[in-house]
Amino acid sequence: MKTGDKYYITTPIYYINDKPHIGHAYTTIVADMLARYNRLKGREVYFLTGTDENSQKNIEAAEKYFKKSDLSKKEIQNYLDEMSAIWKKTWEEMKISNTDFIRTTEPRHIEAVKKFFSRVWEKGDIYKGIYEGFYCAGCEEFKTESDLILGKCSIHKKPVKKIKEENYFFRLTKYREKLLKHIEKNPDFIMPESRRNEVVSYIKEFMTDVSITREGVKWGIVVPEIDNQVLYVWFDALLNYLSAIGFGDDEKKFKKYWPADLHLVGKDIIKFHCALWPAMLLSAGLALPKKVFAHGFFTIDGEKMSKSLGNVVDPVEVAKKYGRDPLRYYLLREIPFGEDGDFSFARLEERYNSDLANGLGNLISRVFAMAEKHLETLPKKQEKYLKDFWKKYEEDIDGLRLHGALSLIWEEISKCDIIIDKEKPWELANSRKQENKKTKKQEEADKIKLQKVLNDLLNRIRDIAFALQPFLPDTSEKILNKFESEKPAKGESLFPRLEK
Ligand code: MSP
Repeated sequence: MKTGDKYYITTPIYYINDKPHIGHAYTTIVADMLARYNRLKGREVYFLTGTDENSQKNIEAAEKYFKKSDLSKKEIQNYLDEMSAIWKKTWEEMKISNTDFIRTTEPRHIEAVKKFFSRVWEKGDIYKGIYEGFYCAGCEEFKTESDLILGKCSIHKKPVKKIKEENYFFRLTKYREKLLKHIEKNPDFIMPESRRNEVVSYIKEFMTDVSITREGVKWGIVVPEIDNQVLYVWFDALLNYLSAIGFGDDEKKFKKYWPADLHLVGKDIIKFHCALWPAMLLSAGLALPKKVFAHGFFTIDGEKMSKSLGNVVDPVEVAKKYGRDPLRYYLLREIPFGEDGDFSFARLEERYNSDLANGLGNLISRVFAMAEKHLETLPKKQEKYLKDFWKKYEEDIDGLRLHGALSLIWEEISKCDIIIDKEKPWELANSRKQENKKTKKQEEADKIKLQKVLNDLLNRIRDIAFALQPFLPDTSEKILNKFESEKPAKGESLFPRLEK
């Protein structure tokens, strides 16, 4: 499997006006799965996640938290430190294998932003102008009349701020043609296809230059070229993908990992990642990321997740109740990657019982119980025992059909069950005395056949466990550990059934 190259994968950096919910965990778990898979392929993986800290949202949350509006810089920073630590700890508890965790209040980020800004400034892509329009702090986005419903943001349903101020603008429209050409030439740049079409129509019809500085905002990155204004949070946040890998500081590291292989994002932030971000990179003379994949959004039991509805799902709680792997399995299997989906505890429990307890768990228990009784040793490791499986498995994951790869694994689990039903190892194991019909010769032939059948099943299971590694790392490790012991042993059940 060794390929020797690198794989740089990122999640969005999350706002820290609250703790992580299941939607954030979804993006992070998918990135973790892909990072693990690429490590297994022998690639040097850089898996980046982190927190987006220079946002108005965070400051408003801090004000709520301290119950006052004139917070000192120190109070704000304390709040950000505490919140960011919660996010970091959540990913640790979920055993997310990120290489790095970037915070946009870190000096390494601020320095990189300044250097990047200078490049774009020198290129002549920043100019002064008047911004007059609306701003939704919820989206951290400028809005036009058509984005509003009865004067409110159509996404956050909250009033937008009307602002008129002198700002600096980035010449986004200068890159319109180049962006369109790049997207056309690189059909894999934006996935899935429906999102690509959405971006293309935005670039063609709606994209305007964007104001990239804000007046009268007290928290944010200040760059020397412009005084009295702070940088617009997206112009700062997107740069985390460069600052983490040493842009302007560690050229060797930067050259090694840039361009990113995959930016994983939710569909809500596709425009920023597929129009503004590549235009910024073009302006700075840097290569564009290889791929941006936008996944869909979750509802909870059919409803939008929101604090006021009281249905916000905490991933750590779910992982505590059902286990980390069952949560990963459910998220990755239930929702075709890229589409919207619904998170429901009833479905999670159904999947747990049918696929994990009855499917995988039961297979492992049965086969190892029989092996404990009838085999002296475990079969020696063989490279890729399953013949047609691996190629399809890799194609699915490389094509980001993650639920497809899981289906393939579960087909292999079913095949094992079919083999057991057909070969009836318990009959092969019956001795002459019990059955009173077998001849001695038959008994010996059955014994050899039984060993053959069990070895075949164990070899299949070992491949299944390997294939599960990036998806269900804890479970995979438990199964593979069974193969490390001297003798086959039944051991504990992997997924005890959930009772209603
Ligand atoms: N800070 C920006 C991103 C900057 S990246 C340079 C941001 N942050 S966010 O905290 O709002 O997180 C956005 C991401 O969280 C989404 O793009 C998506 O990946 C994930 N999700 C948030 N809610 C979600 C659902 N309900 N369902 C699925 N994913 C969700 O935007």
